[in-house]
Amino acid sequence: MLQAINLHKKFKTKEVVRQVNMQLEAGESVGLIGPNGAGKSTTISMLSSLIMPTSGDVEWQGVSITKNPESLRKVLGIVPQEIALYPELSARENLAFFGRIYGLKGPTLNERIEEVLQKIGLTDRQKDIVKTFSGGMKRRLNIGAALLHKPSILIMDEPTVGIDPQSRAYILDTVKQLVEEGMTLLYTSHYMEEVELLCDKIYIMDQGAIIAHGTKDELKSLVSDNQTIELKAHILSTKFESALINQFPKATVRKEEDLLTVTLAKSEEPLATIFALAANNDVMITSAIVKIPTLEDVFLNLTGRALRD
Ligand SMILES: Nc1ncnc2c1ncn2[C@@H]1O[C@H](COP(=O)(O)OP(=O)(O)OP(=O)(O)O)[C@@H](O)[C@H]1O
Ligand SMILES: [Mg+2]
Repeated sequence: MLQAINLHKKFKTKEVVRQVNMQLEAGESVGLIGPNGAGKSTTISMLSSLIMPTSGDVEWQGVSITKNPESLRKVLGIVPQEIALYPELSARENLAFFGRIYGLKGPTLNERIEEVLQKIGLTDRQKDIVKTFSGGMKRRLNIGAALLHKPSILIMDEPTVGIDPQSRAYILDTVKQLVEEGMTLLYTSHYMEEVELLCDKIYIMDQGAIIAHGTKDELKSLVSDNQTIELKAHILSTKFESALINQFPKATVRKEEDLLTVTLAKSEEPLATIFALAANNDVMITSAIVKIPTLEDVFLNLTGRALRD
């Protein structure tokens, strides 16, 4: 549906995006993650025909958008990283302004404004001027502005940065609902947990290049196909340890002071068995923590650096 082909962008002599290939299919929810300055916003700007690539191309339904940007713009909603609203206008007036840019007017525009206000949870505050809004409310309105023309693709650039946890949860719920309703989504963030929650397919970007892509499971398998279970108990008997080794012959079992670590394939679901073995051996488990690789681990593994400082 939307495809980046060897996208490259230079600002003067600085290479900011290098040979990026990406693909978004209809109904798919795709995440783009990477640290500050990785080139995410620049990539998104090229994908949405806001800036021209130095080389490479973007195709929408097989046709280059440098030749025909209008066909994409009609169906694309963009939520920019920087909030773009008129602070002296009310929420409703802002939506009306953006709706007119998309060619909406009269009763259709009013109807869409009502629907969007509902969706972003600002119906009650529609008449208030935007400069009196909290950061989270401004973000929600920014998202609403991108939804007025009923886009089929939504590109969101870090829509939850710098807001309170409640607004963040609200936005994540709204986006999840849009995806469930069939929206094609490209979601940029450096919060791994958001991308994990919302996206089927993930591209990891670093220093202008895509360094890995795939489903969450595919990416995590780059680090390890194992899970580690950390057990604490009142008394960790050697009998219990032997029972574990017998039950899971492929696992690695290690004991260090009051902590017992069991490492085994991610595909296994050993907790119920572990608890049953503990009960049979009079061991009372006080805590059990299951650790599987996170997307943060994937990034660390690929680059040797943490995603966030
Ligand atoms: N118009 C511009 N002129 C010159 N350099 C630019 C311009 N826009 C972006 N850059 C540079 O390109 C690099 C990538 O920027 P970009 O905004 O795409 O990163 P990002 O991944 O979106 O980062 P963040 O997570 O901080 O939003 C940065 O080094 C930035 O300074
Ligand atoms: Mg950015």
